[in-house]
Amino acid sequence: GFGDAEAGAKVFRKCFSCHMVGPDAFNRVGPHLNGIFGRRAGSLEGFKRYSDGLKRMGADGLFWDFDALGAYIENPKAFASDTRMNFDGLDDPQERADVLAYLRQFSAS
Ligand code: HEM
Repeated sequence: GFGDAEAGAKVFRKCFSCHMVGPDAFNRVGPHLNGIFGRRAGSLEGFKRYSDGLKRMGADGLFWDFDALGAYIENPKAFASDTRMNFDGLDDPQERADVLAYLRQFSAS
């Protein structure tokens, strides 16, 4: 179903050890996620620790939208086998929809 951004803020606690979002966000273990919707995969200026796989997918034309983001956060290693995102993924489709609704608030497009 549709995502609930407020519920998604709580789901984002599972991401926050590695990712920040919002006006004061900076890169941690993972890149900050401001503007992630519409961003080319593996392309954030200043983030030096992308896997070769994610960079290649971006160079080949992968831009993050709801479907691609949902697939990646459901099972990061199935999506990009050498990904450096050391995270099991979110099995629950509602949690995925909620966290993406939350992240969507920090993307202009
Ligand atoms: C990459 C989302 C949890 C570490 C990414 C990207 C997204 C994302 C969208 C791609 C960024 C880009 O292309 O610029 C999320 C969400 C999470 C989560 C929504 C929680 C549900 C985590 C956790 C960690 C982590 C817990 C650390 C243990 C990373 C790293 C990358 C990454 C290192 C770069 C991956 C690569 O280059 O292969 N994440 N993430 N993430 N994330 Fe996460």
